[in-house]
Amino acid sequence: MSSGSEQIPVYWPRVKEILDGVMNRWEERWGREGYPGIHEYYWETSQKLKDSVLSGYRSIEPGVPGKDTWLVKALARAVATYGKMPLRGPFLARTEVEDIITWIDTGMPEGPPKGSEE
Ligand code: HEM
Repeated sequence: MSSGSEQIPVYWPRVKEILDGVMNRWEERWGREGYPGIHEYYWETSQKLKDSVLSGYRSIEPGVPGKDTWLVKALARAVATYGKMPLRGPFLARTEVEDIITWIDTGMPEGPPKGSEE
């Protein structure tokens, strides 16, 4: 991330909306919910997402840049021999992936700092 670039802040509700949205689209496409036990598809809180381990890979790790996290790699490309996620699509738009990267790289803020007008 280049310092000094104009960046629109990304907060947790936006990240949740992106992840909920892609899973809603996946369920509509395939006409069913994801098999239980593979992943927890819905992350109610940012803490749950931060703590999540998907098929043995920790989604987000302290100190790992957003683009290099398993979460982002799974959604943008593929992890190990598994396909891009959510498996068989529909997938995230590039801008949605970028928003998740921005959120991670800016310290995963819940919302705007208190007292700020954004
Ligand atoms: C560390 C990142 C991830 C890893 C290692 C991973 C791995 C896997 C594996 C091993 C499967 C089962 C493959 C199979 O049945 O052949 C799977 C399925 C799936 N994953 Fe992921 N995944 C990751 C992230 C994600 C994320 C972030 C989402 C959604 C936002 C997601 C959504 C899905 C869905 C929808 C399926 C299909 C489940 C079904 O058919 O019921 N995955 N993933």
